[in-house]
Amino acid sequence: MKEYYKKDEWKIIEEGFNPDMHEASESIFSLGNGRMGQRANFEEKYSGKSLQGTYIAGVYYPDKTRVGWWKNGYPEYFAKVLNAPNWIGILVDVDGLALDLNTVKVKNFRRELDMKQACLRRSFIAVFPNGHEIEIKTSRFLSIVNDELGVIRYSVKALNFAGTIHFTPFIDGDIRNEDSNYDEQFWDTLECKVDNASAFLLAKTRKSEFLVGMTMLYEVTKNNSILKLSSEPIRNDKYVASQVSIEVQKNDEVEIFKYVSVLSSLNHSSPGKIAINGRKVAEEGLQRKYDSLFKDHIAAWDEKWLHSDIIIKGDEAAQQGIRFNIFHLNQTYTGKDERLNIGPKGFTGEKYGGSTYWDTEAFLIPFYLSTAPQDVARNLLVYRYKHLGKAIENAEKLGFHSGAALYPMVTINGEECHNEWEITFEEIHRNGAIAFAIYNYIRYTGREDYLAEYGLEVLIGISRFWKQRVNWSDVKGQYVMLGVTGPNEYENNVNNNWYTSKMAVWTLEYTLKAIDYVMEVHPARYTEITEATSFNHEREIAAWNDVVQNMYFPYSENLKVFLQQDGYLDKEQKMASELDPAERPINQHWSWDRILRSCFLKQADVLQGIYTFEDHFDAEEIKRNFDFYEPRTLHESSLSPCVHSILANRIGYIHKAYDLYLRTSRLDLDDYNHEVREGLHITSMGGTWMSVVYGFGGLRVTEEMLHFDPVVPENWESLSFKIMYRENMLRININKTTTVIDNESGPEIRVMLKGKKYVIGKGKQLSV
Ligand code: BGC
Repeated sequence: MKEYYKKDEWKIIEEGFNPDMHEASESIFSLGNGRMGQRANFEEKYSGKSLQGTYIAGVYYPDKTRVGWWKNGYPEYFAKVLNAPNWIGILVDVDGLALDLNTVKVKNFRRELDMKQACLRRSFIAVFPNGHEIEIKTSRFLSIVNDELGVIRYSVKALNFAGTIHFTPFIDGDIRNEDSNYDEQFWDTLECKVDNASAFLLAKTRKSEFLVGMTMLYEVTKNNSILKLSSEPIRNDKYVASQVSIEVQKNDEVEIFKYVSVLSSLNHSSPGKIAINGRKVAEEGLQRKYDSLFKDHIAAWDEKWLHSDIIIKGDEAAQQGIRFNIFHLNQTYTGKDERLNIGPKGFTGEKYGGSTYWDTEAFLIPFYLSTAPQDVARNLLVYRYKHLGKAIENAEKLGFHSGAALYPMVTINGEECHNEWEITFEEIHRNGAIAFAIYNYIRYTGREDYLAEYGLEVLIGISRFWKQRVNWSDVKGQYVMLGVTGPNEYENNVNNNWYTSKMAVWTLEYTLKAIDYVMEVHPARYTEITEATSFNHEREIAAWNDVVQNMYFPYSENLKVFLQQDGYLDKEQKMASELDPAERPINQHWSWDRILRSCFLKQADVLQGIYTFEDHFDAEEIKRNFDFYEPRTLHESSLSPCVHSILANRIGYIHKAYDLYLRTSRLDLDDYNHEVREGLHITSMGGTWMSVVYGFGGLRVTEEMLHFDPVVPENWESLSFKIMYRENMLRININKTTTVIDNESGPEIRVMLKGKKYVIGKGKQLSV
């Protein structure tokens, strides 16, 4: 763990240029606007180590699977969100010498991510070998108002010379994915046009045939006056650029403003439309100009912060950490488009292919439920509904039948993309998270009609899968679930993983209730659903009830804890504290078989289950299980510390909760897992938010009302956050002695605070 970035409540700051940290910083300082995003690559040339990354949500390539031992049921491809053409580039040349931070001397380097304004800034002085010094200041943002527009402001000041500066803004289609399985290029460039101070590049993805068009316009000023310059077009098969040269005297400042539109065939039906509409977007940018576009961008971000900000007083590291997480969540997904979802790395890297995992349902939906209008979280559910047919096909490929649905572990278009047997075939707990998210959404919003509209069909498919996936054991006289991998990926092919079985039984029970509801309240729709799914009411309900009543769950009578899986106690029992820190993370130091045989957990499945169904357990039970599992847990999954922090809070282990909170909220900033270069852990950021609001805020959502059981850690003066709940907007302020809940908008509301029921009138405040 390193503390490299400067602490600040609203900013992430890097001072001094450190090439070894550059790729990590490219991840940390990434920008996005829900539609597109990019790593913090430099605009100018950089010949040092860098991971180039420009991503467009939903634009992917099906990269042919590469695997040692092919197993039936593996998908043919891994869909990858692509590194798209690079549109940020601006080459800078000073009297024939290229600006390249790898070759010039760099002074006063500062890189800053302004989270409040969603803007990336850089400043530094470059000293060329001939002694010329220039001062550079850059800023760029991806408009959240028009999510097809990116804007860059790049200024160069001649500090000690008179001479010529060339700017060459460009768009480069000659790009690759670092993770390409066969080192192929994924794009063909179809069109390259340059004309005065404008350029257009149209590219098409191979196989998936997405079109992406980028139009760039720019203007240059000297000492704040716009220059009329003649430009020289530069073009080859995959690259368009336009070069201008400007004479400068000592202390002159020249600035280039680059406006780029990025449009894809997801939203524009033809190459012609992409070109024409893209031109319009870029022209509007150029006409409105940087400052006015930026003003609107800030206003839209203010609105996001108004609803989602968390204020922690007295602890700058914690404050910075939580805002960093919220910022990335808000810039990764805006909920405007139900075809999009959230990859574990968002727009910050290639790893995980930009695809959807169970992370969305288990760790992200709560954040969007509480901080954004209801349709944002709903769109994440509808995304799965739209993939139901593919989930049924996926289950069929694995030998299931009669409408059983197994959602993929990893997907971008509904098809499974993952190809490691222990994950693809065995990590079936994802089906449970998808079912639970439906319940969670309805419990939070009160929109039970969602069941009739979309939810029930998904639940039926998933329940059929669970029914077929368990089998009767004559030995046990109960149903068992064999050969699974739980969220703890440090054990594979185990029997009766407690968490997976719990999710399965719960889904069956919930589906039975959902059926009753739809049958009673929406009878016509129920008939439609049963016909569409060929549902055999009597037979299937009886079969599901049988599993619910006769499922086996591993339990230790001695220890009085639920067991991770049947064989868990056979393992040599050791504590994480006994491990040599030099051997951690163990997945980077131990052979895989050694990991599998050890008792160490990447994340504790039983605790994940207890967190999910907290109201099924009493405080003693939670404590016993926590005390048993947490010391054996290495938290080497980014999704681990948040859940453990919430439970630690629940049982009064405030110090532990705080340590785990810092670990989750500063996981990337302090690079706990030594991998931030590859991108950020966007999905675990939803978990960080939960660890504040559900953990320290003590929020629990029941079908009747919200419960709060808040506590602030010793070194925090206060904690304050907002949540949208049904028609209400609540602000919660907590300090060491008092909890204040403001019913800022919406009708009178009932809440439970520290176990006591209160009613807060419209616009009123509760202070306890
Ligand atoms: C975790 C999975 C998770 C994936 C993507 C893995 O390390 O074990 O549970 O879905 O990362 O975040």
